[in-house]
Amino acid sequence: MMRLDKYLCETGFGTRSQVKALLKKGLVQVDGETAKRPELKIDEHRSQVTCAGMRAVYQEHVYLMMNKPQGVLSATEDRRQKTVLDLVEEKAADRLFPVGRLDKDTEGLLLLTDDGELAHALLSPKKHVDKVYEAEIQGQVGQEHVRRFAEGLDIGEKRPTLPAKLEILSSGETSRVRVTIREGKFHQIKRMFQAVGCQVTALRRLSMGSLCLDEGLEPGAYRALSPEELERLKEHI
Ligand code: URA
Repeated sequence: MMRLDKYLCETGFGTRSQVKALLKKGLVQVDGETAKRPELKIDEHRSQVTCAGMRAVYQEHVYLMMNKPQGVLSATEDRRQKTVLDLVEEKAADRLFPVGRLDKDTEGLLLLTDDGELAHALLSPKKHVDKVYEAEIQGQVGQEHVRRFAEGLDIGEKRPTLPAKLEILSSGETSRVRVTIREGKFHQIKRMFQAVGCQVTALRRLSMGSLCLDEGLEPGAYRALSPEELERLKEHI
């Protein structure tokens, strides 16, 4: 249960004093009845609240998709270096954390949330959530590499990597590839290429489970997940 004025603030209808003015004017309805008392307790998950005819939608958690730029850390704070959360201007920014890490020089899809349960499920090795990366590789990548990625590679861990899908987009002095992995070991993509004698010169994450990077987001930009994106992500795991 939650106070009506707090609920209206959290669903984006303004500051406490703006919301109080809306209540006073009789513009707020709770389950079809006009409500004027800011302290009225409502059920944030069940009550139907409208303000000036607009339906309030309550979300317990915040989910942001960021196109992480190169040069910032996937951390919540750092004394010396800029982190992804330094780029976020949301009110709830101090509660958010990145779901998994991308290296400082890696770009692309990064989910920021305050939903620990979802983050845990997405990162759990047991759930085998696919992560797709695009990489630029110094050197020629060929079918032998595709086979070795599919077999699993020794990257110095107790066990070889799980079978990964390597697609060659172009091959030459530098090659472009797409790689799908189902785990998230430290520097995994770079170490997998090292294991076959190649070097990653640029890396970008395109997707995580059903969630795909919005190509309209410039590096450093972010947006809230749509209700459909969130639903599909939760279904997926
Ligand atoms: N693999 C890497 O090597 N780096 C990343 O940032 C992500 C996956």
